[in-house]
Amino acid sequence: MSKHILLGVTGSIAAYKAAELVRLIKGAGHEVSVVMTKAATEFVRPLTFKTLSQNDVALEMFDDSMVWDPVHIKMADKADIIVVAPCTANVLAKITHGLADDLLSATVLAAPVPVLIAPAMNDRMWGNAATQANVKTLRERGIEVMETGEGDLACGYRGSGRMPEPEDIMVAINKTLND
Ligand SMILES: Cc1cc2nc3c(=O)[nH]c(=O)nc-3n(C[C@H](O)[C@H](O)[C@H](O)COP(=O)(O)O)c2cc1C
Repeated sequence: MSKHILLGVTGSIAAYKAAELVRLIKGAGHEVSVVMTKAATEFVRPLTFKTLSQNDVALEMFDDSMVWDPVHIKMADKADIIVVAPCTANVLAKITHGLADDLLSATVLAAPVPVLIAPAMNDRMWGNAATQANVKTLRERGIEVMETGEGDLACGYRGSGRMPEPEDIMVAINKTLND
């Protein structure tokens, strides 16, 4: 059955891989809406996601086209699952601490649906005690934080912190939707 996936894209160099994820989600017959942080738009243009998802891309909390219902509540209401891929250390921390100072974090906080996080960051950011404590807290709350991959990182280092591959994220999405 077709589901509605809300995909949050954040300001990581891995943001380009989210385009492939959108393609896989559409190929599986689901609807997908993308919300990007401001930093994410430095890496990939919204037009890429708009075209691949065949949906508008949400960027602003205070949207002029808003009729009466706040964008973050409207988006939270229609999602069957929220996937944040790639998820920066910053957004991971915001979700952990319940911050809601941009459209994506506010939507995650307002959504009564499963949240799947695919982190992507430098190995030291990933290994930092603050990030690891956040991951532990989120997992204890039942939020799925995927393991990062090992290998060459875009920042020039080697280590863990690579975003899981889009195919693996798609498997995790299907598993969550079918649970
Ligand atoms: C070239 C470049 C690549 C970056 N890649 C990452 C990354 O993979 N993961 C991460 O957590 N932050 C990364 N950052 C830092 C984030 O973009 C920065 O923390 C930003 O404030 C995140 O905003 P957001 O979490 O609202 O998207 C990168 C910054 C630059 C300049």
